[in-house]
Amino acid sequence: MANGISPDFLEELKRKNDIVDVASKYITLNRRGANYWACCPFHNEKTPSFSIKQDGQFFKCFGCGESGNVITFVMKMENVDFLTAVELLCKNVGLEMPSEADNDEMRKRKRERERMYAVLKSTTEFYHNNLINHPNTPQAKYLSNRGINKNMIDKFQIGISLNYDDLIKYLTKQGFTPQEMISAGVAGRNDKNLYDFYGGRVMFPIFNGFGDVVAFSGRSVEANPDRTKYKNTSQTPIFNKSEILFGYNFVRDLKKEHSLDTIVIVEGHIDVIMCHQSGITNTIGCMGTALTAQHANNIKRLVDNVILCLDGDNAGASATYKAINTLKEVGLNVKVLRLTDAKDPDEYLKKFGKDAFYELLSNAQDCIDFVLIDSSKKYNMNSNNDKTSYLNEALNYISKFSTPAEQEVYLSLVQKIVKIPIDALRNSLRMQSSEDKHIKKEPDREIELGNNQALIQSKIALLASILYKKYTNIDEIAGIFTADDELSELYKFFVERIKENKEFNSSTLFDNFEITNNSLIDQVINYKFPSDDVYDNFVKETINTVKIYELTQEKDDLTKQMLAIQDIDKQRELLKKIGQLDKELIRRKSGNR
Ligand code: CTP
Ligand code: MN
Repeated sequence: MANGISPDFLEELKRKNDIVDVASKYITLNRRGANYWACCPFHNEKTPSFSIKQDGQFFKCFGCGESGNVITFVMKMENVDFLTAVELLCKNVGLEMPSEADNDEMRKRKRERERMYAVLKSTTEFYHNNLINHPNTPQAKYLSNRGINKNMIDKFQIGISLNYDDLIKYLTKQGFTPQEMISAGVAGRNDKNLYDFYGGRVMFPIFNGFGDVVAFSGRSVEANPDRTKYKNTSQTPIFNKSEILFGYNFVRDLKKEHSLDTIVIVEGHIDVIMCHQSGITNTIGCMGTALTAQHANNIKRLVDNVILCLDGDNAGASATYKAINTLKEVGLNVKVLRLTDAKDPDEYLKKFGKDAFYELLSNAQDCIDFVLIDSSKKYNMNSNNDKTSYLNEALNYISKFSTPAEQEVYLSLVQKIVKIPIDALRNSLRMQSSEDKHIKKEPDREIELGNNQALIQSKIALLASILYKKYTNIDEIAGIFTADDELSELYKFFVERIKENKEFNSSTLFDNFEITNNSLIDQVINYKFPSDDVYDNFVKETINTVKIYELTQEKDDLTKQMLAIQDIDKQRELLKKIGQLDKELIRRKSGNR
């Protein structure tokens, strides 16, 4: 019960949540034979290598190696921890979360998180009511001056803090402790006194993917704030800023309504809000931080296409270059929109209106075109030195991010910029690509298993036979699984399950073992059996292989002992034993048994 939930309950939960049903809510599955196939949701691919075995209730991607059961699938898709995934699956089929999930540690952690959500929810309501009830305060006026309408104030649950005390009084009355307020990030402590961490600011709640408030950004309303312009919740157990994107929850809702094809990424809160207000409801914000691979993966989960529209300044330009890489690396199609007549989307919308902005978005530039053209501006193409530097940079980009067909298109663009014959460019590109491969290639890992390999393969085959109920005589092979390794652990697990008369299948293993791609247990789960008619013989052969290995080991040991001792009688004794082992070995090897 490492995860705090009984195996019986997990089995029931998984029985009710068929992995095929659950997965098909997220991805399109195609049935082929006994299995279902799809393009892997965890890495970028064009041909399906993600498979689900319905009878084993597990998935495996032969491309990226991810594998797991329905619980792990939900964890990865929703980006949540084990207990949350279990909770979601309980909801899905109307099961109560089991009370035994509450071992002390778990109960404590769960309660802390629940209280955190509760503090943030109450705080959001409090700030929001402030705004509704005090429309003439500088904070409320700031919002109307920025042109944010009532609908957006409701949709984004925007609020205001008027001072440093009211929130604390309110939360105290609601029964929250000082520690709970501090942990959630809404209160600070000054000597003995608690104060509203965001005192006097305009408050933007930050939501997680499910629409729960997990943090705040508070904007100062002073024109030139001597204090920071934005004050943000720092890391808490429910808020990780390298995962969360502002507005992601709303865009996720669009996805559920099947009306999402592209996501627009902007920098600021106000940019997001003003885009939504202008009907561009597929907009999210990175809140001024660099996009991380986590962000990119979360986006990729929803769409294949993004338009990057960061601020027009230099910082925005360098952030754009970095973001392109991060987004391309998870396989997104990236377009870029650099604003020239306004500092950010908010200002652009105000100056030129939404039709003009739509127009810009629909003409956004392919990101590689952008990089090839934009980066050429810093070079003087009349200098050979500069030309070479540019070519290095450009070809590197092309070889990294484009297919051969696309490469032709990009090369002709580069040709126009550097005015070098395209054949020469093709050659350089080819050289660059092979250099890349050279660098990327990992040193061949020696297979350490050596002549143990046959033994390990046999063990894997036997365990797979137990797993898939093809072989039940588990005591017969007990002697084989005595080593201190993963496979013996697995054998012990099977023995316990069988003795306790408890159900198990592949999906059970993912709850009890850490299973990485191509690990021994992964190989057990994905074992390819020979056809049924040769099966009986196959098990006998397998056991025989193991016995031969054991006998050989024993013989080697005895031989070493014999050579090490002086006592002739003892040597004779050992020799006799070795002789017996030899006979046995010959018998087994000849198949005469
Ligand atoms: N940001 C931040 N802390 C700061 C400045 C900025 O967290 N001190 C984040 C905010 O998420 C902000 C985004 O970076 O929304 C973009 O910054 P900026 O363009 O300066 O803010 P805007 O929201 O555009 O505000 P304004 O239009 O009032 O300048
Ligand atoms: Mn801005």
